[in-house]
Amino acid sequence: FWLVLGFRKRQPHEPPLEMGWIPYLGCALQFSKNPLTFLQRRKAKYGEIFTCKITNNYYHFIADPLSYGNVSRHGKYLDWKKFQFATSTKVFGHGNMDPKFGNTSENLHDTFVKMLQGEPLGHMTENMMENLQYVMLGSRNASKQAKFDWTSEGLYSFCYEKMFEAGYMTLFGKDLKDHEENNYSKLEAHRFLILNALKDFQRLDKVFPALVAGFSIHLFRNAYKSREALAEGLCHSVLQKWQKLSPLITLRILLNDTLSNFDEMEKGRTHVAILWASHANTLPATFWALFYILRCPKAKQAIQKEIKMMLQKTKQKVGQQQSVIKQDDFGLMPILDSAVKEALRLSSASLNIRAVKEDFRFVMDSGRSYAIRKDDYIVLYPPLLHFDPEIYENPMDYQYDRFLDSAGQEKKVFYKNGRMLKCYFLPFGSGMAKCPGRHLAMNEIKQFLVLMLCYYDIELLEPNGAIPPLDQSRAGLGVLPPTFDIKFRYKRKRL
Ligand code: HEM
Repeated sequence: FWLVLGFRKRQPHEPPLEMGWIPYLGCALQFSKNPLTFLQRRKAKYGEIFTCKITNNYYHFIADPLSYGNVSRHGKYLDWKKFQFATSTKVFGHGNMDPKFGNTSENLHDTFVKMLQGEPLGHMTENMMENLQYVMLGSRNASKQAKFDWTSEGLYSFCYEKMFEAGYMTLFGKDLKDHEENNYSKLEAHRFLILNALKDFQRLDKVFPALVAGFSIHLFRNAYKSREALAEGLCHSVLQKWQKLSPLITLRILLNDTLSNFDEMEKGRTHVAILWASHANTLPATFWALFYILRCPKAKQAIQKEIKMMLQKTKQKVGQQQSVIKQDDFGLMPILDSAVKEALRLSSASLNIRAVKEDFRFVMDSGRSYAIRKDDYIVLYPPLLHFDPEIYENPMDYQYDRFLDSAGQEKKVFYKNGRMLKCYFLPFGSGMAKCPGRHLAMNEIKQFLVLMLCYYDIELLEPNGAIPPLDQSRAGLGVLPPTFDIKFRYKRKRL
């Protein structure tokens, strides 16, 4: 009878178990209302590890940050791809990309890792700079004079649109024939296409939490239509006509065509998955990074000074339309790096989930070990770490220089119980499941901030207004957007 209702009893040596009161759902409703508060309370009650039943699955939350590294140490019992593959299949509608399902023999993770570091990363970073300059500094829309007048709008929608447009072109290229770089009307038509894709992206992204929770996309007609429109727009027959595709997408087209049995639409859907992975977190992260800098005059001043020095050292000048910040130049801006990380610490909330392949004992840093059952999940929830006052003093406060050491360089040493932490900053996940696009993400956000701060006078309309709360309905999925937008104004500097 209990098994039918999905109840189970805690066995000897298993972590403390919280079943919740609702059959099937378990703790799902309390958890989803505010995961951080829910988990902080359980941590206070149960300690280093505890189990929660959520929608008929059992999740073991590792609550002791000193034990985070132990997850990798138990790697042979854990499958970090199963959940990702299943989620991507469910949401984007392509066949499962795990080679064991027989749809493709591509090692997708290898493709990502190879194409998002080293030379391909440098290539994408340079293209992103060119695209951001086109999107943010191009002379379209505004008359010459209007450009230099104040314009007010929502900061979130501004960051969202600019980063989406530039990011889309950086991944998938532009609809230009060879040597037509300056064909303005062609670029404007391409822009129209991307802004339509943005609307589709938003409609799909809105129902993302429901899709991950297991609801069928067919319950959401508009989101379904939007997903299919995005996939159609990214079919190989379309992409092959575009120029300047990223090395990542160029390789994925080749591997889709040679190693998979996907049809045209399925191939397009695999590209929608990459579009989502590369934007769903980066767009809100860009907003928070700029929002906090604008709210903190000291941060803004320090970063502007640092950018000026970087430009001097690299013999560049604001106003020159080329390059400005290549891969190596980022190392000259540790304050900017710290400010972006601090915004990520405050706004990211991704669940790191591993499926358990067989029964085993999880050994914690304390030396205690716990029996874990096959088909359960081991989970890290980084906000538990990011908001731990022992690790980050006054964790709710924005301190732009929190990730700087006394020499003004990147701080890498954080403590818990007097012991140095191996894992102290996890917005990009951990271990094997760490985001392969993290370097690109950091580069893109910094490029956007540098252009905003160099080329625009920019200010919040209410500099002392409330900080918008994080949208907890998306907790677990990555960087959380604000629950409401913030008004700001900007005007182009006369350089
Ligand atoms: C995976 C965070 C930007 C590509 C992940 C994961 C996290 C994450 C936490 C692991 C998810 C899991 O465990 O299931 C972020 C954040 C970003 C960001 C916070 C921005 C602030 C990007 C960008 C790209 C990207 C710009 C560029 C293509 C990917 C891919 C995966 C991934 C492809 C799946 C990896 C795999 O299946 O092997 N990201 N990401 N991400 N991210 Fe990012």
